[in-house]
Amino acid sequence: MEIKTQYGLKDLTTFRVDASARQYVCFRSEAQIVTFLAAHPMAGQPCLVLGGGSNLLFIGDYNGTLLHPCLKGIEVLAENRQTVRVKVMAGESWDDFVGHAVENGWAGVENLSLIPGHVGASAVQNIGAYGVEVKDVIESVEAVGIADGKKTTLLASQCGFGYRESHFKNRWKDQYIITAVIYRLCKQPVYTTHYPGVAREVAALGGPSLASLRQAIINIRMRKLPDPSETGNAGSFFKNPVMDASVFARLKRFFPDLPHFPQDDGRVKLPAGWLVERCGWKGKTVGRAGVYPKQALVLVNLGGAEGLEIVALSEKIRNSVFERFGIRLQREVRVVGESPLPAF
Ligand code: FAD
Ligand code: EPU
Repeated sequence: MEIKTQYGLKDLTTFRVDASARQYVCFRSEAQIVTFLAAHPMAGQPCLVLGGGSNLLFIGDYNGTLLHPCLKGIEVLAENRQTVRVKVMAGESWDDFVGHAVENGWAGVENLSLIPGHVGASAVQNIGAYGVEVKDVIESVEAVGIADGKKTTLLASQCGFGYRESHFKNRWKDQYIITAVIYRLCKQPVYTTHYPGVAREVAALGGPSLASLRQAIINIRMRKLPDPSETGNAGSFFKNPVMDASVFARLKRFFPDLPHFPQDDGRVKLPAGWLVERCGWKGKTVGRAGVYPKQALVLVNLGGAEGLEIVALSEKIRNSVFERFGIRLQREVRVVGESPLPAF
């Protein structure tokens, strides 16, 4: 276990903004977490769990304790001819796990290739991409309660998974340290290639296989998303808005070319990137913050930006989308710290 005070966070988040945490604790095992929480009761204390920092934006120093589960390991719990149940520790790199699954012929996560971050957080926002959401392969989540240090297992059905949602973001916010996720993967792949552009990319790579699907997704992502090791960002800054079909029908009368994706529940999802681009933001910069020229939903740190500059830009974008379309975008990125700007 490593405990530090006034610890610099710049290299621990992909936005790469300067900030520090009053206390930072890195855990190497579940036992260390339980021991630490028994000795340092956290009930009522400000604390936050840190994974790979790829969905967090600090807008000032964090006056609390950052709990960093750096637990490693991938273990097959059971397998038969159809499926494999695999337990992955929270601190494993998500994409390393996807690579491992593909190499072993385990299907279900290949469309989620190259998503940054750690395994623990995959269950926090139910990561999704290219027609797949991780909730469909999560069996259960192992966690330790921050207030009482008790170990618990939460079944996927208890976790409230939805589009970029789970109880870990709301009802259980900052209440658990996820220590491991148990996935149920398939040894007889069914390839998901309906997302625009995926089938074409797979065909160019010689047809469907787990390896070609993984490579196709990597190719597509590298063409349109910034590499966090070169440009500070946290992926999509906003969620895609989902609305009732009747609301969408009204909008469509004013904006006939508005792209839209019907959902299973009858609602309609709109691409926020299109809304932001239509408001003229794509490629724009304000000070040291900017909108990525190849993907309008991604805000970038052009070098040395403060968290507040990025949030201020996001507010301008959000206001202009509301003025033009009457839609209030919701953040996907979690902003941490006291903001003088309105919360949303
Ligand atoms: P962090 O940013 O460290 O934390 C995110 C949240 O989870 C915080 O609230 C944190 O407190 C909580 N948390 C983290 N670990 C734990 C834990 N062990 N226990 C309890 N709570 C925890 N996301 C997608 O869904 N799809 C994409 O296609 C996608 N593409 C991206 C592309 C880029 C270039 C980038 C930079 C980001 C992208 N993201 C995408 C967003 C991000 O990668 C995911 O949200 C990822 O799951 C965050 O993981 P993390 O470990 O970095 O979490
Ligand atoms: N679009 C534009 N202009 C842009 C960007 C997008 O018009 O600058 C429109 C186009 O119509 C395009 C559509 O939006 O066809 C969809 O774009 P894209 O395929 O790039 O996906 P997205 O909806 O912008 C979502 C996720 C991504 C995920 C991709 C692929 C959200 C908030 N974002 O982006 O996830 O990788 O789909 O599935 O749901 C993330 O969560 O951080 C993230 C990157």
